[in-house]
Amino acid sequence: MTKRIGILTAGGDTPALNATIYGAVERANSLGMHVLGLLRGYAGLLDDKVAHVHLNPLFSSIPELDPCSGGTLLGSSRTYIAPGSDEMEIVRRNIQRLELDGLICIGGDGTISGMQPLTDYLPCVLAPKTIDNDLGLNYLDEPNEWVRKSSDDGDGFVKVHEKSRQHMDLEDMINYATPGYATAVFVVAQCVQRIRSTAESHRRIGVIEVMGRDSGYIGLGAAYGQPDLILIPEVAINLNELEQRVRQIYELQHHAVIVVGEGCRTAEGTELGASAPSYDPAGNIRYSGAAQALKDLLEERIEPEFFEKVRPHEPGGSAFFTRKVGHTQRGGRPIQFDRFYASQLGGKAMELVHAGDSNSVATLQYCPRNGFEVDSIAAAKLSDQWGEIHHRAVHPTMYDEHRMQPSEFGESYLQSIFTNAIGSDDMEFIRAELFSPGNLATRYQSVNTDIRKRVRFI
Ligand code: F6P
Repeated sequence: MTKRIGILTAGGDTPALNATIYGAVERANSLGMHVLGLLRGYAGLLDDKVAHVHLNPLFSSIPELDPCSGGTLLGSSRTYIAPGSDEMEIVRRNIQRLELDGLICIGGDGTISGMQPLTDYLPCVLAPKTIDNDLGLNYLDEPNEWVRKSSDDGDGFVKVHEKSRQHMDLEDMINYATPGYATAVFVVAQCVQRIRSTAESHRRIGVIEVMGRDSGYIGLGAAYGQPDLILIPEVAINLNELEQRVRQIYELQHHAVIVVGEGCRTAEGTELGASAPSYDPAGNIRYSGAAQALKDLLEERIEPEFFEKVRPHEPGGSAFFTRKVGHTQRGGRPIQFDRFYASQLGGKAMELVHAGDSNSVATLQYCPRNGFEVDSIAAAKLSDQWGEIHHRAVHPTMYDEHRMQPSEFGESYLQSIFTNAIGSDDMEFIRAELFSPGNLATRYQSVNTDIRKRVRFI
């Protein structure tokens, strides 16, 4: 009997989600399987009517499924369902009513955790995505380095990552780069270059905040825009050292550009972006204001007179300025690297679910001799001994904390991904489409409008 596979996208949108769905559906077409796109991530599975779209009638992908467009035609949400809750029973019933033989969840660490309880009901496979590039491991044994220690108040336990391994090779990495990361870096690097113009012309110090939560991969990739200093969440900021470096750079070139990860903290333990913390539905902290907090700290330390020699007659307090790259870094058309590997990973996920695999993850692997290839790993391999999946941090060997730049090893990591990441069609697309007269004459045509015409209910 022909299999029916569900597919959903959960968590924050990323540029390559449609490419992943496309890869999965194209593979399903050749394997003769029906694919039902479930709308709005796990939240859609809680609805009584479970809105869904048949993505491949007659085993041919619907035209709305465009691998080159950003976001997700299925919609997404950050709703996750607690194991054992009453809601889980609703989900189980809805999966049964949809007559699904398998489910592909496209997402990051929140999505894979949300997928775990569903594996009791049907084969589930994760196709990875996240601009944060934090779904995966630096090396296979990494989860086993987490230990539990009594908390300071003696009331319970805290988990601590005991960094036992000093060295790693590129081929050790599990899930080398996640779809969305390359496009985010593409946006950030250009932002850094453009901010540089103002900093340089007006003798100012630009502080640019990038996303990534507690992972510094986006900051690391920002190096392509040649910022003077990069601060990543994995390495606590030594404010004395930073102040000294800023003074030196400013004296030399009369301006500076600093990139700061939203999850950065100082050596004293202050989380820069958590002055007024809020949380998303998955319980993740929403960082906000890291650039502003860093600017405030530097302004407290560097007296206005320091800037007066270089920029006399300027209003006091105008030497520093901040910019958040914000959601632009996860929106829009994915660049070639993301499109290509996202669709490969989608295809791999479909093969896995077709083979009846469950609770596994399609991964992108790299080895310097052979380049990239898709593979898979059991989800359990990503979790610590208590079942928790931790975000992947930038390994200490990838970052030079004194230069505040990627280390030589970090550079090799970045080069393997980015040297050929942009396709000539990416540039041609901008040339031909951005100033197309049609953009002035026609309103934006949302995929949501077209998809609504295809929605079915149970
Ligand atoms: O996890 C992806 C991400 O873009 C993070 O880098 C960022 O902190 C967060 O999502 C922002 O989430 P939201 O769009 O809910 O503000």
